[in-house]
Amino acid sequence: MKLTFLGHAGFVVDIGDQQVAIDPFLTGNPVATQRAEELSPAYILLTHAHGDHYGDTESIAKRTSATVIASFEVVSYLGQRGISGHAMNIGGSFTFPFGKVTYTPAWHSNSLPDGSYAGMPSGLVLAAEGKRLYHAGDTALFGDMALIGKKALAVALLPIGDNYTMGPEDALEAVRLLRPQVVIPIHYNTFELIRQDAQAFKAAVETQTDSRVVVLKPGEHFTL
Ligand code: NI
Ligand code: MN
Repeated sequence: MKLTFLGHAGFVVDIGDQQVAIDPFLTGNPVATQRAEELSPAYILLTHAHGDHYGDTESIAKRTSATVIASFEVVSYLGQRGISGHAMNIGGSFTFPFGKVTYTPAWHSNSLPDGSYAGMPSGLVLAAEGKRLYHAGDTALFGDMALIGKKALAVALLPIGDNYTMGPEDALEAVRLLRPQVVIPIHYNTFELIRQDAQAFKAAVETQTDSRVVVLKPGEHFTL
């Protein structure tokens, strides 16, 4: 599995010859190094529908016919706009050609681009090639992360930006619960309000837990 960081909370995941995008927010993302037109994933996974996650989903899906995997409410909205999706909900898993996706809880809110209610936000676990990747979505720290960490996680993508999600101190506690091999911090330094020192977070995690922190700049890759 090769992860490419799109900036903010977005990733492209290459699994063999299959490509999956997660929360592809590029247009209007001040730190993005790629344009939406450069992505051609077969699937788009969404944690929730806030603009900084939903991002370029519509334009990418219309151009590439990508299937959007998201919550029931978000997929219903996309269906009204002529975009095909696969609706899932928290606690559910489904095996796609690229791997198995499980939707997990997230403590946050959720709304659609038109401002309407979008149901519960989520995180997700993607299992492929014998490895498990956890994207926490936008969330507060919560104790049930210990359950998500019960099955070994190769990598956890955790927000550290604070203000809208957990900040570095709570993300450190999340690492203690999740016990991933590798942590990649996300959802910080995109905007002034979520400015954080990723190297300080890395130092704290690596001195206080057994996990390793990989700090990615937008456009950089990590292979697991
Ligand atoms: Ni959000
Ligand atoms: Mn967000």
